[in-house]
Amino acid sequence: MCGIVAYVGQKPALPILLDGLKRLEYRGYDSAGVAVVTDGHLLIHKKAGKVRDVAAGIPMDFEAATIGIGHTRWATHGEPSDTNAHPHFDCAGEIALVHNGIIENYAAIKSKLEAGGHVFKTQTDTEALVHLVEDWYRVSHDLFTAVRLALLEVHGAYGIAVVSSREPSRVVAARKGSPLVLGIGNGEYFVASDPAAIISNTRQVVYLEDGEIVSLDPSGYVTKTIQNADVMKKVMEVTLELEQIEKGGYDHFMLKEIHEQPETIMNTLRGRLNEKEGTARLGGLRELTDRILAADRFTITACGTSWHAGLVGQYMLEQYARIPVRVEYASEFRYRNPIVGPSDVVWLISQSGETADTLAALREARARGATTAGIVNVVGSSIARETDGGTYLHAGPEIGVASTKAFTSQLTALSLITLMLGRLRGTIGPDQGRAIVHELEILPEKAEKVLEQEQTVREIAREFQSIRNFLYLGRGYNFPVALEGALKLKEISYIHAEGYPAAEMKHGPIALIDRDMPVVFITPRDGTYKKVLSNIQEVKARKGRLIAVADENDQEITRLADFVLRVPHTLDFLTPILTIIPLQLLAYYIAIDRGCNVDQPRNLAKSVTVE
Ligand code: AGP
Ligand code: GLU
Repeated sequence: MCGIVAYVGQKPALPILLDGLKRLEYRGYDSAGVAVVTDGHLLIHKKAGKVRDVAAGIPMDFEAATIGIGHTRWATHGEPSDTNAHPHFDCAGEIALVHNGIIENYAAIKSKLEAGGHVFKTQTDTEALVHLVEDWYRVSHDLFTAVRLALLEVHGAYGIAVVSSREPSRVVAARKGSPLVLGIGNGEYFVASDPAAIISNTRQVVYLEDGEIVSLDPSGYVTKTIQNADVMKKVMEVTLELEQIEKGGYDHFMLKEIHEQPETIMNTLRGRLNEKEGTARLGGLRELTDRILAADRFTITACGTSWHAGLVGQYMLEQYARIPVRVEYASEFRYRNPIVGPSDVVWLISQSGETADTLAALREARARGATTAGIVNVVGSSIARETDGGTYLHAGPEIGVASTKAFTSQLTALSLITLMLGRLRGTIGPDQGRAIVHELEILPEKAEKVLEQEQTVREIAREFQSIRNFLYLGRGYNFPVALEGALKLKEISYIHAEGYPAAEMKHGPIALIDRDMPVVFITPRDGTYKKVLSNIQEVKARKGRLIAVADENDQEITRLADFVLRVPHTLDFLTPILTIIPLQLLAYYIAIDRGCNVDQPRNLAKSVTVE
């Protein structure tokens, strides 16, 4: 998820690695480290904190090395600490490895290796891989083969780079689901998770594809698939400038993060679905499960976008797990002498894990004896540390101030929690559980399909860019999506927007409707579809202009709405994960047309650490 850089050649490796890591800093990270091979020895230096802190403490003996690997970590397994920082190394201290991504089956690999005598030092998933390589190295005595064979046993996502003191001029790198690029120099080679880290050295690159592995030494490189088939790679020239690379070729981080959603939803699901039993496995909740099952009710508390996710969670949990849930703004919860005690479970949802109001609500709930569980993106953040347990989103760093991919991952995590609890409580049967698992598995592809409509969204945005007010309406699971769609527009375009439950419109807001008040209806074909159609008629009768987010097969809506954005059909409770995506794009393009700074909207901070 974060950054990798590696070098092999004739020059001192260290300055190249550190410079590369600095150029990857924009990706967000919590720790960094480097490993070099010099004089037949492997040297490693790593730390929680910034690249400059790591750089400051590197001993002199690193300086002569002409081969090395470097890493910036954005923790997914194990808190950010010196020990958990990469590179990780084997028992003998001869092999070092850096990894971006998640090894799904690390626990199984780890227990097998521990039984075989390997000693683990960290809490990361990554360490399992380096010990596995060590095992295969004993058999093959060849780093390239050892890494390749180890990868055949691994499920999950990875970009990796590996060195060994026994092969002091070889770097082995491989990827699956996490980008990796090779830089081609003169008698020297580079590896990086994106070209930003290497373009000051070379613009000649080779992009590795999923399932490919490469061995590099100063005399050349060999690429294969991990199944051992030869592959010929094309050398390309990077023409992008640094700033464009940082944003993944997109104009803004927000747009990049919107487009990452198929992948981030998948990362939230990674390793957590159990097809056979039709349930979800959530390791971070294991120790709390008994307390969660014994609870009379749940409280979900959060702020902003995370609070909207909580509202969807309430509907999910009540419908499928049949547990009463209340949802409260953290800022309200903390000051109103809430009725919570030892038989309650309080869930805290937060992307950053540092939001002051949410943290205070957590402390309040703990002080009253409640069990607390987090749904958090940033590993090792305050909320993650202070809760009794929880579920990480694994969505990677979110840099745009307006939250997008964290929201869809929060909803995905909530659906996993709902599935697990529904199965444990018997309110979801095995067949229904399996149907949900299946639907979750294909959700990333469906999200990808939604994104294909970007051009239509652009046209709609152009049409509405000078409007001063917007109304967003939805029912059931999509009422919170109306709130979130409106919040996105407000935050980045500064247009006034309101979200309402569609049926509430007639109790007041209908008075506002005329040609100058466009209405966005979120109306997939779910349980409330027919009802929403009547609400649409009411708007039409008052000459309101209508944008609908509708099911891909809904023909009826074309007659009623002025503009239609489509989402593939899915289970009712999963629809918000798809319906919010066109609304994020709509807010983005309207803001762009109005010349707004979408990544850093006025008056807003990414993490609100004050009351
Ligand atoms: C969303 O776009 C926001 N900028 C904001 O509402 C945010 O969701 C809120 O501050 C909560 O942040 P958290 O998830 O990091 O706790
Ligand atoms: N899953 C690994 C860890 O937590 C790698 C994280 C990353 O991609 O930076 O250490």
